[in-house]
Amino acid sequence: MKKTTALPVFHATKLGRIYHADSLDVMASMAPSSVDLIVTSPPFALTRKKEYGNEQEDAYLQWFRDFAKQFHRILKESGSLVIDLGGAWKPGAPVRSLYHFKLLIMLCEEYGFHLAQEFYWWNPSKLPTPAEWVNVRRIRVKDAINTVWWLSKSEWPKASNRRVLQPYSPSMEHLLANGYKAKLRPSGHDISDKFSVNNGAAIPPNLLAIPNTESNSNYMRYCQENGIKAHPARFPADLPEYFIRMLTDPGDVVLDPFGGSCITGEVAERLKRKWTCAEMVEEYLEGAIGRFHSPAAERSLTKDDGYYKLPRPSLLWNGPDPIPLDPDGGRKRPSSVGTRSKKKEGGTIGGDDGHESYHPLAAQGRED
Ligand SMILES: C[S@@+](CC[C@H](N)C(=O)[O-])C[C@H]1O[C@@H](n2cnc3c(N)ncnc32)[C@H](O)[C@@H]1O
Repeated sequence: MKKTTALPVFHATKLGRIYHADSLDVMASMAPSSVDLIVTSPPFALTRKKEYGNEQEDAYLQWFRDFAKQFHRILKESGSLVIDLGGAWKPGAPVRSLYHFKLLIMLCEEYGFHLAQEFYWWNPSKLPTPAEWVNVRRIRVKDAINTVWWLSKSEWPKASNRRVLQPYSPSMEHLLANGYKAKLRPSGHDISDKFSVNNGAAIPPNLLAIPNTESNSNYMRYCQENGIKAHPARFPADLPEYFIRMLTDPGDVVLDPFGGSCITGEVAERLKRKWTCAEMVEEYLEGAIGRFHSPAAERSLTKDDGYYKLPRPSLLWNGPDPIPLDPDGGRKRPSSVGTRSKKKEGGTIGGDDGHESYHPLAAQGRED
């Protein structure tokens, strides 16, 4: 029989607990069907030089299996599992790993989850990486999207988009002010006059535009004042907030099994949900408690951050037009940039937010 020892609570608040522990142990201690929402950003699959082909993706999926079993066991029928995953480049080549798609398929086909909806988190402040493919050889574009899989235990998880409405776009505002003539679109879609009803706010799309630029928060100040290194791979508060609002009610239970700096706990506390975070690295938790020293400010939308304007693609170019494409696909490095350092070779996770620091096996102390 498995020996049960009390799990180390690192910090507790009125509504939540942070465990300095392996989340597999934390989840094993939780009752079945007791959690309303798991919202998390697991360590991403890091593509390592010494593993080739599909081996590493398979190792990641294998590592994830125990978590998948626990997620399914502890979620309520009405519950949701939201997983934020950045993409990865294969080592040394300008091609992408399929690990996040494979994980999605595994969770649905082997563990019985449903894909309630896929979301894309666009980080407008992302740097153009990986530099070798994007800036040097100019054969790929910058990777600024994370996939966010919203999975559910049943086909009918509790949810409401009324909790996550956004301001009307300037063109919609114009339309509401000036009226809309009901007509059939070229697609055959019948736009009725219901479109001119002002509901006060718009239903959002599944693209979340959230810059990952937290520099002035309680958390950052606490880390700076106490000489603690901030967690290198945080997601912005708006990401868990969106799903906590849409998928839970006050008093519901939220879990982040890969807690990091416990931003999920901070948001859940502010929104009056019960919560649990688990994190294995103590240093991250030393910073995380700064989130709970003074209450986080309510979010408020300013006039400026209601809308992003995206340029239409391919309107400009550098150099002669048309630029001749390299039939070699950019295999040969431009001579003007010199030789390539080993460190800068592909195989890094595209991103400026440090997610490449993680490897699931390393996080478990199992990296060989
Ligand atoms: C991408 S980070 C999460 C960051 C977090 N979303 C934030 O914004 O601060 C993933 C975290 O999972 C932790 N981790 C990995 N395996 C774990 C496990 N089995 N139990 C608990 N934490 C784990 C890592 O130490 C890392 O801090």
